[in-house]
Order: sequence, then C-alpha cells, then structure tokens
Amino acid sequence: MDSVHYQTLSFQLEGQFVGFINKPNGQLKSLRLMLDGKELHIKLDKGLRGSLGSGLAAGDWVQVLGQQKFKGNFSEFKLKAFQVNRLSCSLECKDNKTPNTLGISSNQSSGCPKKGKILLCNKSDCAKNGGKELYQELQKTICRLGLEKSVKIEKTSCQKRCKKAPNMILMPGKEKCSNPKPKSIANLLRDHYLESMD
Ligand code: FES
Repeated sequence: MDSVHYQTLSFQLEGQFVGFINKPNGQLKSLRLMLDGKELHIKLDKGLRGSLGSGLAAGDWVQVLGQQKFKGNFSEFKLKAFQVNRLSCSLECKDNKTPNTLGISSNQSSGCPKKGKILLCNKSDCAKNGGKELYQELQKTICRLGLEKSVKIEKTSCQKRCKKAPNMILMPGKEKCSNPKPKSIANLLRDHYLESMD
C-alpha cells in the first residue's frame, strides 16, 4: 500500500470570522473564515475549543495562526488553528479601553477616535483597479484600530480622478487619497481619525 506523505507548514491568515462548525455533541470543531471572498474551514486545536466560543462575533476580523498539512502537489491540504487573535478592539477612549476579548493585547496605537467616514469610489475604473482590495483593507484596518464604531465606509459614484484609481476621500477634511499602498493605510487612518493623547 502506498504511504501518504504530508508536509507541514505554519500559516498566519487574516480574515473575517463567519461562525463555527460544531460537532454532533455541540463541541466546536472548526472555524469559518472569509478570506478574499472565499470561505475557509479551519479545524480548531483541542486547546482552543473550550476558550473561543463566546469571544468572537460574526464579522470580527481575526488573525489565525496554525499549521497546514498538504500532499506534495497541494492537491489536498488541511488547516489546523492553534491560536486565534481578534484584531478588532473597541477603543472607546483614553480611560475606557476595552480589552481584546480573547485576552490578547492589541498592538495598535491608542487615542480617541474621531467620527468620520471614508468616501470610496465604487465606479468601474476604481472598482476594476484595486477598489475591492482597498475596501477590504480599509475594513480590516478600521477594525484593527478600533474605529468600527466611529468611521464608516461609504461607496460613491465617480470622483473624477479615474486615472489615479482607486480613489477615496477622508471625511471630515475632504482629504483626497489615490491608490494608497496597503502598508500606508493604517498610518493614514491613524493620523486622520485618532487624536494623539500626548
Ligand atoms: S471611477 Fe473612480 S474616480 Fe472615476
């Protein structure tokens, strides 16, 4: 009989928590994670099954660390989570920080969030040229910075800067921004929506 050789690699994924899959006895079995429009099912390590249930709500952005096992040609692979970090943290204000419900400290900056919205162009040039990815990156960063209660994303019609797509405007202030690099988005939102506590 041919023996099946699996290889193991560690992984780190960030996506939106959808829910759990339970075993017939009601125990948690797997976590459903939405990633780039696809739903992944990630088996939970025994140590996680008891501790996760009440700590996550559908729509939370989470980071999942674990191991994937796959056959040589990647035709079959299995994911197993050993650690789940909730990235969104409700940062109400200076003296009222809500800790991450999974007990893992947030590494994001502190400050009082200002209310605002991000006007994101949703017309064809922008949508086709990175607008969807920008929307996801904005959602993720808003959650990471604890801005989900104060900053909304609003899709708009053409902002008349199609050649620079994708485009957005940060409100208040009408700060125009074109094709931001994913790495710069956290700083951009931090500067615009988090008041320094110095
Ligand atoms: S399509 Fe986005 S600015 Fe015109």
